[in-house]
Amino acid sequence: MTLTANAALNAWLAEVRDLCRPSEVYLCDGSQQEYDRLIAEMVASGMATPLKKRPGSYLFRSDPSDVARVENRTFIASRRKEDAGPTNNWIDPDELKATMTGLYSGCMQGRTMYVIPFSMGPIGSPISKIGVEISDSPYVVINMRIMTRIGSEVLAALGERGEFVRCLHSVGKPLAPGEKDLSWPCAPIEQKYISHFPEERTIWSYGSGYGGNALLGKKCFALRIASVQARDEGWLAEHMLILKITSPEGKTAYVCGAFPSACGKTNLAMLVPTIKGWTVQTVGDDIAWMKFGADGRLYAINPEAGFFGVAPGTSLDSNPNAMHTIERDTIFTNVGLTDDGDVWWEGIGIPAPAHLIDWQGNDWTPDCGRPAAHPNARFTAPAARCPVIAPEWEDPAGVPISAILVGGRRPTTIPLVNESLNWAHGVFLGSVMGSEITAAAISDKIGQVRRDPFAMLPFMGYHVCDYLNHWLSVGQKADEAKLPRIYYVNWFRKAQDGRWLWPGYGENSRVLKWIFSRVSGEGHAVATPIGNMPSPEDIDTEGLAVAPEDMAQLLAVDREAWLRELESVAENYAEYGEKLPARLREELDKLQKALA
Ligand code: GTP
Ligand code: SPV
Ligand code: MN
Repeated sequence: MTLTANAALNAWLAEVRDLCRPSEVYLCDGSQQEYDRLIAEMVASGMATPLKKRPGSYLFRSDPSDVARVENRTFIASRRKEDAGPTNNWIDPDELKATMTGLYSGCMQGRTMYVIPFSMGPIGSPISKIGVEISDSPYVVINMRIMTRIGSEVLAALGERGEFVRCLHSVGKPLAPGEKDLSWPCAPIEQKYISHFPEERTIWSYGSGYGGNALLGKKCFALRIASVQARDEGWLAEHMLILKITSPEGKTAYVCGAFPSACGKTNLAMLVPTIKGWTVQTVGDDIAWMKFGADGRLYAINPEAGFFGVAPGTSLDSNPNAMHTIERDTIFTNVGLTDDGDVWWEGIGIPAPAHLIDWQGNDWTPDCGRPAAHPNARFTAPAARCPVIAPEWEDPAGVPISAILVGGRRPTTIPLVNESLNWAHGVFLGSVMGSEITAAAISDKIGQVRRDPFAMLPFMGYHVCDYLNHWLSVGQKADEAKLPRIYYVNWFRKAQDGRWLWPGYGENSRVLKWIFSRVSGEGHAVATPIGNMPSPEDIDTEGLAVAPEDMAQLLAVDREAWLRELESVAENYAEYGEKLPARLREELDKLQKALA
């Protein structure tokens, strides 16, 4: 095949074509005409529904079995099992390739094989990395065009000899001659494989058309493969939002935040501060690649170009900037469809209409006892549409990071905010963080707390202990004074009666203000066994409707609860095995003693 100027790419395309046997091969140029044509084809086939109320926007409904990432079908197939570590599923790469080659054989019959050259990060930037996704899903093509930079410009940057990550994707549903396609083709769960071959920088995904399973630039490349590249090359690829905060005096700081899936990254990244004179702008909402600059500071870029955001709970109240971002040119997946051609979901902030079509395509009424939108329903929208996108969001040099937040959904124990004492202590806090499991992955354990170091549990491409050790070693090589400070936050504390103790969303700006004051060297804090914390007076509470006793609870260290917490951390560390960095075990011992 001579589709491109890159011989290695051409050879791979020919190999995949011969294996998958599509009816045609199509090289995506990334143009608007191409996008419009693919959408028109999907509207004609019934896969996409145009939304009369939102220009350029379309609704897709997935198969009811294909609604989120599939962590138990996700594999890190490193050569050696011990390199995948205790938290990843491992299959011998030769065995896995044999199984998947069987599945891929003829899997694109009756379909088009789309070739999608894409860049993670601005095209041509020294920090960016190129991938090529082969997919038999036009839904994947249009989503990749929003989420990454795709097309001819990327091929030009790749050149004749450039390197790229091979990303092979099929929905796993070949079509017999004359067979009518389904509106969401996919394979049954036991045939789904989301596979990574880290040494070969290769991804093979089979059987799912949804989100992180299918848009391979996102979790598969920008986190699982990139985390391995980052370890080898001395940088960090993380599941983090990036925001810019500006004080009333016009001083700015950039902050990253690692929260697990569906735990508030997009919301924090687009936050509208409730405190006067402060502004927040968005640099990224899901992934950060961080490298040291010549000045010794850590700089972050957002490798993505769009948002694949959680729809339920998004409203003009909770996240107006997201609502404005998705007014047009947006792809919606698994939300409700109103009779007048708009979208609706639980928590959209307007009353449910008397009738709509739910995410499964059935009639829905408010009293029917089922949600209208799937809890992991998503919107795909260009980042450039966000009204508060920071002007520097595509700066290839990235933005210098002053603070890194870590945290998850914890109804008890974890206070509103806690500052680490130094880098290693911060890595300890990142290593012990946990969260209630959300609907972002298919699971029968939704709501149960699990440890999720740096929100990367499902996204590390290698051994968790090597990952934590890499974080420690990044700090050892740097000038501590120039490193971002690490903060453990929790927006999700609940009272005994189940109500939120903290209102969250825009009110989180009050915590950001305290963090801003700390990294500026001004803010006041109290030393506690777990770290430095604000006293209630250190948080700006003007206009905040939180009772003083709730505030006290949010900022208290509950020793009993923490000791129980640390027992569970110790159990978790034991599961990680012998390779756990000694420094983290020391931090745990130290804290247990301080609390006893
Ligand atoms: P992924 O895209 O899966 O990585 O999720 P995310 O981390 O970007 O989470 P997102 O901001 O989309 O929020 C997920 C859910 O949490 C939504 O339903 C939000 O409404 C809710 N949420 C976000 N921030 C807060 C908060 O500060 N407090 C409370 N109570 N809920 C929040
Ligand atoms: C997540 O699950 O963290 C997401 C959505 O951001 S997905 O793209 O499906 O991974
Ligand atoms: Mn995410």
